[in-house]
This record gives sequence, structure tokens and C-alpha cells, in this order.
Amino acid sequence: MTAPAASTDVVTLRDLDEPGRVPALVAFVSAVAWLLVGSLLGLVASLKFNFPDWWTGWAPATFGRVRAAHLNAMIYGWASLAMLGISVWLVPRLVHAPLRWPRVATGGIVFWNGAILVGVLALLAGWTDGLEWLEFPRSVVDPMLIVAGGMVGVTLLGTVLGGRARHLYVSVWYVAAAFVWFPIIFVTGNLPVFRGVESAAVNWFYAHNALGFWLTAIGLGAVYYFIPKVLGRPIYSYQLSLLGFWTLAFFYALNGMHHLIGGPLPTWMITTSIVASVLMVIPVAAVAVNHHMSMVGRFASLRYSPTLRFVVLGAVAYTAVSLQGIFTAFREVNRITHFTHWTIAHSHVGVYAFVTFVMFGSVYYVIPRLVGRDWPDGRLIAWHFWLALGGIGAFVLALNLGGVLQGLALMDPQVPFQASVEAAAPWLAVRSLAGVVLTAAHLVFAWHLWKVLRRAPTVGPLPPWHDPRPVVVPPPGPWS
Ligand code: HEM
Ligand code: HEM
Repeated sequence: MTAPAASTDVVTLRDLDEPGRVPALVAFVSAVAWLLVGSLLGLVASLKFNFPDWWTGWAPATFGRVRAAHLNAMIYGWASLAMLGISVWLVPRLVHAPLRWPRVATGGIVFWNGAILVGVLALLAGWTDGLEWLEFPRSVVDPMLIVAGGMVGVTLLGTVLGGRARHLYVSVWYVAAAFVWFPIIFVTGNLPVFRGVESAAVNWFYAHNALGFWLTAIGLGAVYYFIPKVLGRPIYSYQLSLLGFWTLAFFYALNGMHHLIGGPLPTWMITTSIVASVLMVIPVAAVAVNHHMSMVGRFASLRYSPTLRFVVLGAVAYTAVSLQGIFTAFREVNRITHFTHWTIAHSHVGVYAFVTFVMFGSVYYVIPRLVGRDWPDGRLIAWHFWLALGGIGAFVLALNLGGVLQGLALMDPQVPFQASVEAAAPWLAVRSLAGVVLTAAHLVFAWHLWKVLRRAPTVGPLPPWHDPRPVVVPPPGPWS
């Protein structure tokens, strides 16, 4: 029989959560603020397709600037900040050690916000590096992001290295790897030494890997945590998790050039990326089977747990966006879809239906554990869910359909260009309506967050889900 752990070796979940509380809260609240700003910018960009003569007299409101501001506010503001919040909360729980240097993490998150603010204002003022996903001025904003992200990364990696769990759960691999991968690709993407075609190749090496090694990595890390956690059962297969992680690490890095199919790059580069895109079926299937089998027999829980509902839908969207992406990577398909709204539909299945849904579900789980009280109004969660699902469903269906019609018209030499614009027009109106619905969903979410933050802390016994039982820490392992 093993001896009971010494009292100094015993920590509760509350002990693990406590140091990360402030940085996680700052990250979530600011993330939601950027979600609102980004929604407004997305809505304006969308309406410009329906009313091209609207608000053209003021340069910051022109499409090119608003689009870039939308993309950056959403990716580096909303999604990245939500992911930073999840990471500082999740990693301590999984490695059985409180967050190291929490003030450094909070400072990093505040500074990250400052960088996004400067960056978005710079883009609206017309100051841009002109590379998609790397629009922020590299002389000011990118160094700020490197310092800010570095501050959070150091605390997280320090926590992992000082961790006391003998086994590193799969979510830690994804999150820790993201904090190693992202600085490498971000610095590479911003090196001011590439010109012409080289610059385009490095641009898409960066942007593609930002999707795979940053958004997807932390998104999947969260899915791997929340499905088993909410269901109270282990993940279906450890071996499949390993297979999914390593094949993603290997194949995703080779995918980037599929964004430049038909571009002036050596054919072998593009072909390699198409082959690697098809090979992505391995990690995607591994993850999908693993998550599905973990859910089997428990789908009824979707009715009761908002976290599960958002996270499981996000996981399904991950499979969907990947299969759509593999299909889009074939030359025969890409020549029809590349210059159309199809690509924008695909983008939003990925960054919205997958990443954003997983972040929504995660926030629903984590916030009550940070503030010590539950969400006050279940109806608001239901409104948020159905508006978000209906909105993104209409957004994606409309743009997929409109994109194909637009692409077929563009391919036909007998059809004048104007006809391809007209073919897509009704679908773009649907996209704007969907954008209004999505913005409403985000307002409901923000309002509910405000309500839960504003209420006085629960006095008396802790809510039942704030498990006071100790996490018995095993003897120090290789990670101590
Ligand atoms: C197996 C997985 C995937 C494959 C093979 C894939 C494939 C592709 C391809 C071929 C394009 C280029 C379309 C074009 O410009 O003609 C593309 C664009 C895009 N993908 Fe994916 N995709 C995958 C997964 C994802 C995921 C998981 C996300 C989100 C997290 C995502 C988000 C995007 C975005 C945002 C773009 C547009 C980038 C831009 O032009 O700004 N994709 N994808
Ligand atoms: C209120 C909801 C939203 C609306 C109305 C909206 C609208 C738009 C519009 C109009 C564009 C430009 C399309 C074009 O150039 O043809 C766009 C692009 C983009 N949006 Fe959104 N969006 C919304 C939510 C989001 C969210 C939540 C994210 C990320 C988390 C996001 C990420 C992006 C990205 C990455 C692009 C560039 C896509 C590409 O180049 O393929 N959007 N969005």
C-alpha cells in the first residue's frame, strides 16, 4: 500500500486555479470586448458588398482597411486572447502546479491588448505591412506582440517544467507546443528579408501555420480537455491522441503553399502542399474518431451542458472544415473556388464554427470557476447558442453556394464579369443578415458575462462544481 501523500504534496483544484485567476479574467473580458469590436468591423465590411457606395468618403471606413482591422481584431484580439485565458487556466490544472509568475502573465495579457489596440488603429489609419495576416506594422506592433506573448509563454512553459504530474495529458502537448511553435512562425513571417514571390511563400507559411499551430493547436487542446472533463470519463484512446498530435505537427507545416495554387511558385512546392493537405486526413480522422468515441452513449448530455454543446459542435466543425479544406486543395477545385466567397465560407467554418465555438464553450466552463458563482441566466446561454449556430449556418451556406455560382460564372469565357458579381449578390445579402444575427449573439454573450462579473461573490459553501477534493499529487516525475 502506498503511504498517504504528505500534506505539502496535496493541492486542491482551487489552489491550482487561484494564481491564474486574474490573468485568465483579464484575458476573457478583453477577448469579449474585441469580439464586439471585430463583429462591428465584420458587419461594416459585409455591408459594403451590398451597398458599395455607402460610407466611401472617409478613408478609415473603406473596405480594404475595415477588412484588415476585422481580421486582426478577431484573430489576435478575440481568438488569441480567449486562448491565452484558457491556457493560463488549463495548464496549471493539468500539470498539478499553480501558474508560475502570474503577474508576468497578467502584464503580458495587458500589453498584448495594447498592441492590438495600436495595431487596429494603425490599420484603420492606413498604416499596414500589406501582407495578409501580417498587416500589423512590423516596426511597432509586432515587437510588442512578441514581448507580450513571450511574457505569457514563459509563465506557461515555466509552469509545465515545474509541473508535478507524472503524465502529461494530451491538452498540455497541444498548448505547450503552440507556445513553442507560434513565436517561431511569427518571427519568421515578420523577417524583413523576403521579396516578391519569396515573400508570398513566407506569408502563407506563416498564415497557414498560424491556423494550424496556434488556433487549431489550442482549440484542439481545449476540446481534448472539456469533453472528458464534462462527461467524467477518460478520452477514448491515448494512442489515437498521439497519432493525431504528431501527424498534425508533421503534415500541417507542409500545407502552406496550397494558398498559392496557380501562383508563380515552383510546381513541386504546390504539389507537395497538396499531397500534405490530403495526408491531413490522418490527424483529422484520428481526432474525429477519438472525440466521437469519447461521446458515444452520452450525446444526451449535450442538452444539459452548454460547454459540451459548444465544444462538441466546435469539434464537429473541425472535421468539416478540414474535409472542405482538403477538397479545396485539389487544383481542379481550387481553380473554380479560389477567387470566390467559397474561401471566406471555409475561413469562417474554421475560425468561427470550430475555434470560436470551442472558446465559447470553454468560457462557459471556466468563468464560474474563476468568480465562484454560476451563470445567472440559462436562457441567455440558449439565446447565445442558437443565434450563433443559426448565424454561422446561414453565413456558411450562403457563401458556399454564392461562391460556387460566382466561380462557375468566372470560369465561363462567354459570361461577362458583371454576371459573376450578380450571381453572388443575393448570397452576400444573406451573409450580412447572418452577420447581424451573429453580432446579436455576441451582445447576448457579453451582456451575460457582465452580469456574472457584476454579481457579488457567493457566500457560504462553494458551488458544487467547485470540487474541493484534493488533487493528490504523485511523487515528482520527470517534469518536476
Ligand atoms: C486539413 C485541414 C485543412 C485544409 C487541407 C485546408 C485547406 C485550405 C485551402 C486549400 C485554403 C486556400 C483556399 C484558397 O485560397 O483558394 C484554405 C484557406 C483557409 N483556411 Fe483552411 N484548411 C484546413 C483546415 C483549416 C482550419 C482548421 C482552419 C481554421 C482554424 C482553416 C482556416 C482557413 C482560413 C482562415 C483560410 C483563408 C485564409 C485567407 O485567405 O485569409 N482551415 N484552407
Ligand atoms: C459578426 C460576425 C462576422 C462577420 C459579419 C464577418 C464578416 C467578414 C467579412 C465581410 C470578411 C471579408 C470577406 C471578403 O474579403 O470577401 C471577413 C473576413 C474574415 N473574417 Fe470574419 N466575420 C465575422 C466573424 C468572424 C470571427 C469571429 C472571426 C475569427 C475568430 C473572423 C475571421 C475572419 C477572417 C480570418 C477573415 C479573412 C478570411 C479570408 O481571407 O479568407 N470573422 N469576415
